[in-house]
Amino acid sequence: MATTETYTLNDFVGDLDRITREETSATRVTERVAPLLARLVRNPRSIPAEYLRSPAGQRGRYILHRAPKFNVTSVVWRPGDRATAHNHETWGVIGVVENEIEETRYRVTETGAGRAKLEVASVTRHPTGAVSRLVPGDEVHGMYNPTSRDTIEIHVYGRDLAGLKRRRWDDDGTEKPLVSDKYLNC
Ligand SMILES: [Fe+2]
Repeated sequence: MATTETYTLNDFVGDLDRITREETSATRVTERVAPLLARLVRNPRSIPAEYLRSPAGQRGRYILHRAPKFNVTSVVWRPGDRATAHNHETWGVIGVVENEIEETRYRVTETGAGRAKLEVASVTRHPTGAVSRLVPGDEVHGMYNPTSRDTIEIHVYGRDLAGLKRRRWDDDGTEKPLVSDKYLNC
């Protein structure tokens, strides 16, 4: 319909359904999803307000849509909230709805025995409206809210991260297992 119509969460989920049927390459999926997520985060009024704020004393993490080939979540980072280096075992597209987030990308070189060398590949302050893509080979990152306000994001992943065996790393390269509970979607 008219381009002035609001792009809703339902529109986005419909597009994700189609794109994940048509594409198998993580690069192509994320290239096609990124501009659509940019539209959604610029006008997130179709997302219920309770999914865009953090519960008292916790980071906000909510499932907005779960499907076999993708899921959509919202994440609210409070001032100073941080996730250290971690991987995802799938593709991802992340968009900033409000405020900003600092994302650090890492190059990981396995050095054996549960250790790795972590090199910072980039540090980016993503402002409101920005979209960031994770693809195999470049999907290890850390996140940090350096501001004094909440940061609201929408995350889309190619797999359900709940219960998925993933990895995280300390600053010295020590590897730790990471299994998200149902509310940890980043
Ligand atoms: Fe993440």
